[in-house]
Amino acid sequence: MRGRLAGVGFGGDYNPEQWGPATHAEDIALMREANVSLVTLGIFAWARAEPTPGAYDFTWLDAHLDRLAEAGVAVCLATMTASPPPWLARLHPETLPELADGTRLYPGSRQHWCPSSPVFRRHAVRLVERLATRYADHPALALWHIGNEYGCHISRHCHCPVSTAAFRTWLRARYGTLQALNDAWSTAFWSQHYAAWDEIHTPRTAPSFRNPAQRADYERFSSDELLACYLAEKRVLARLTPHTPVTTNFVPIAKTLDLFAWAPHLDVIAYDSYPDPHDPDAAQRAAFSYDVMRGLKGGRPWLLLEQAPSAVNWRRHNGRKPPGRMRLDSWQAVAHGADAVLFFQWRQSRGGAEKFHSAMVPHAGPDTRIFREVRDLGAELAARPELLGSVPERADAALLLDWPAWWAVETDAHPSEIDYLKGALAYHRALYAASVACDVVPADGDLGAYRLLLVPHLYAVSRAAADRVTAYVRDGGTLVMSYFSGITDEHDRVYLGGYPGPFREVLGLTVEEFDPRPDGSWAEVIRLEGAESVRDFADGSPAVTRHAYGRGTAWYVGCDLGAEELRGLLDRVRRECGVRPVEAGLPEGVQVRARVTAAGERLRVRLDHRDGSVSVERDGPRGATG
Ligand code: GLA
Repeated sequence: MRGRLAGVGFGGDYNPEQWGPATHAEDIALMREANVSLVTLGIFAWARAEPTPGAYDFTWLDAHLDRLAEAGVAVCLATMTASPPPWLARLHPETLPELADGTRLYPGSRQHWCPSSPVFRRHAVRLVERLATRYADHPALALWHIGNEYGCHISRHCHCPVSTAAFRTWLRARYGTLQALNDAWSTAFWSQHYAAWDEIHTPRTAPSFRNPAQRADYERFSSDELLACYLAEKRVLARLTPHTPVTTNFVPIAKTLDLFAWAPHLDVIAYDSYPDPHDPDAAQRAAFSYDVMRGLKGGRPWLLLEQAPSAVNWRRHNGRKPPGRMRLDSWQAVAHGADAVLFFQWRQSRGGAEKFHSAMVPHAGPDTRIFREVRDLGAELAARPELLGSVPERADAALLLDWPAWWAVETDAHPSEIDYLKGALAYHRALYAASVACDVVPADGDLGAYRLLLVPHLYAVSRAAADRVTAYVRDGGTLVMSYFSGITDEHDRVYLGGYPGPFREVLGLTVEEFDPRPDGSWAEVIRLEGAESVRDFADGSPAVTRHAYGRGTAWYVGCDLGAEELRGLLDRVRRECGVRPVEAGLPEGVQVRARVTAAGERLRVRLDHRDGSVSVERDGPRGATG
C-alpha cells in the first residue's frame, strides 16, 4: 500500500452509492481540494453490487474506481460483506442470528448474520471472488477491507442451532474427548456432567449463574468464528490478488475479539476511534487504544480507518468536536503510530440511521467550519511526507493485556465485580499522566524488552505464561501486578495452595482471603512471605507490597488506589527502575510522542490538550528523569 501513498493516508469512508452523478463530480473536486489520498469504498454496498442472488452489477463501481484513480486517490476496497442484502434472509432465514433468550434478529438494520452460517460464508466468498477477479489490477486498489468492525452489533454472539452445532464442533477440536471437557469445565459441580456432545449448548439464558468455563470458551469460540469468516475471505484475496495487503477495521477496544489472536492475519492493523468530546479522559483512553493497536504487531504503524470529524450520532448526547479538536485527535493518532487518518464518512448521509453523524462534507456543504478544518488538516499532513516509513519510538514500559483473562474475570459470582478494561486504563493513565510512553504486550510477548511491566487483573493465566512473568522479574525486570491476578488456570480452575498461586513466589506473599468493601472497593488479607508492605490497609495489614526477586523487583497492589495515589506509586516505581517521561517537565495536559523516520531522525509530536495546539518538531534531547 505504501507505494500508492506519498505520505500519511488521508480520507474517509466513501459511500457514493447514496448519491447521484452531480454529487460524484463534486466529490472528486472536493477530495482534490482537501488532499484526500485514500478512501474506503463500498463497505455497505452488497445490496447494490448483488441486487438479486447471483446477478452482479459492478458497472457503477468501475466508474468510481476509475474516477478515483484519475484523481490520484488510492482505494481501500471493501469486500462488502458486512451487511447482506435482504434477499439472503428471505431465501435463508437460518442465516439470521439468535440471542441467548431465543430472540431472532431481522434485517432492517445491519450486520444481521450468523457468524457460523455456511450459507452466509458461501455467499460472502462468492462475492469476494467476483470483486477480487475484477479489480485485482485496478490502479486505484491499494488495500482490501474485509467486512466491517467484526464483533460490533450481533455478529458476535449467536445462539441459533447452526451456532450451537458449530460450538460443539469447536469444543471437540479443543478437548478431543468429553472427559477432557468435563474436567476442564468442572462439571462435577451442579450436576452438569455431559454424557454426549449434543447435550452441550451455548451459554443461553439459564436459571442461575452459568458455568464460567463454558462462558469463557464461548467467548473464545465467538472470536474464532468471526476470525474464520474473515479468513474465508482473506484466502480468496490471497489467491487472486496476492500483492495487495488486507485488513479489517477493529471496533473501539472491547472484549469482543481476541485482537492478539487476530493480528497475525492482518497485513496491517486498522482501527476505528471515537473519543467522546465530553469525556475528560477521552485523550488518555484514545492513547491507550492506539498503544494497543501498535502492540498488535510488535510496534509497527497502523491505520486510523475511522474517526468522526465532529459529532457522532449514537451516544445519548452527541457533542461536537470544538474547533481544532479534530486536528488534535488526528495528530494524537499519528504520534501513537497511525499511518493513515481517515474518517467516517466522506459526505454526510441525507437519509438513514446515520444522517446526524458528522462527515468531512457536512449537510451544509463545503463552506463550513468542518470542511475547512478537514481541508487544512489534509494540507498539513500532505506537507509531512517524512512521516511515511517512520516508526513509533519504542517505550521502556509496557502493559500486559490478555483477552482470555478479560473474559474470565468478568464472569459472575466473584468476590466483587471487576471491570478489566477500567483496571487496565487506570494503570495506563498513571504513566500517561506522567508523560511516560507505554507499549502494550500480550502474555507471550517480548517482555524482556521492557524495564517496567504493568499487569492488571491477570485473573486467569496458564502456568507457562505465569512462568514467563516470573522469569522476567528474575532476569531484572520490574513488575507491578494488581489484585485478582493468578487466581485460575486457563480453564477457570483455581490454583490451590493460596492465592495468587503461580505468582506467590515472585511476589513474596500469599493472599488468604478477599474482603471487598460495601462500596465495591477491593480489599484482601495478605500474608507477607518475603515481601515488605509499602502501604497498609486501615487495620495495619499490608495492601501494597514490594519484593526483591532475582535481579528484579515485583510490586503487588492488593487494593484500589485512587488515580493520584496510583500515579504516586508508579512514579516511585519507575524512578527506581529508570523509566523516564518522553520529555521532562511537561505541564499537565501536554503529551509528547516521537516517531523515528527512515533517515533516523526523531520527530516529536507535541499535543497540548489544554488549548488544542499541536506542533511537530525534529529531534531534541531526551528529557531527564521527572
Ligand atoms: C462504526 C462503523 C461505521 C459507522 C460509524 C459511526 O465505526 O464502522 O460504519 O457506523 O461507526 O460512528
